[in-house]
Amino acid sequence: PVQVVVAIDGPSGSGKSTVSKEIARRLDLGYLDTGAMYRAVAWWALDQGVDLSNPAAVVDAARNAPVEISTDPDRQTVRVGETDVTEAIRTPEVTSHVSSVATVPAAREVLVDRQRQVIEDSGRRIVAEGRDITTVVAPDAEVRILLVASEQARMNRRGAQLGGSQNADALRQQVVGRDAKDSTVVNFSTAADGVTTLDNSELNLEQSVQAVMDLVLRAV
Ligand code: C5P
Repeated sequence: PVQVVVAIDGPSGSGKSTVSKEIARRLDLGYLDTGAMYRAVAWWALDQGVDLSNPAAVVDAARNAPVEISTDPDRQTVRVGETDVTEAIRTPEVTSHVSSVATVPAAREVLVDRQRQVIEDSGRRIVAEGRDITTVVAPDAEVRILLVASEQARMNRRGAQLGGSQNADALRQQVVGRDAKDSTVVNFSTAADGVTTLDNSELNLEQSVQAVMDLVLRAV
């Protein structure tokens, strides 16, 4: 089995999660969805009535939320304590609050430490995706990719994911608005040194997977 850490960053709707999971399956690697961690903390904070406008309270939430995430690409369950929040963390309610967690630097530090631990626990055989994996969480990864796509392509994908029920303005807010907030604390619009940018606006899923696979196989 290949021993490799694949780090993939990109904006929302770039296909990071779908592509990362498929790479993990094909190479029998673990899969870490770091966005799910931020979402789970946001879910717990909302559930506990934490004041998300208070940075100290947000840091406490990041420390105390009992988040458990599976690294099996075929069994992506997220639990907070006894509660299965796999679906609940994808609601518009959580999505619209997650940046309040992600924009508190000390809360990020707590989650980044955990993410590094998950990578080590995998025996450094994992695909990890998010916004700061190539730069902060695992700058030492053997493969580092910035997956980007045009705004239109990203909105179309997110719209399809949500079943086509959202109007264009709501979608734009979810995709572009969230990226604008997130990019105040992490830079995922330009590739850091040594990071390969892959634009998949014109690629379908299989072509995107192949393009990433080529980069991984070249590195191992
Ligand atoms: O990838 P996903 O859209 O699920 O991420 C949810 C949110 O988590 C992002 O909008 C961002 O606020 C935060 N996030 C982050 N850093 C990461 C992954 C996600 O700030 N590495």
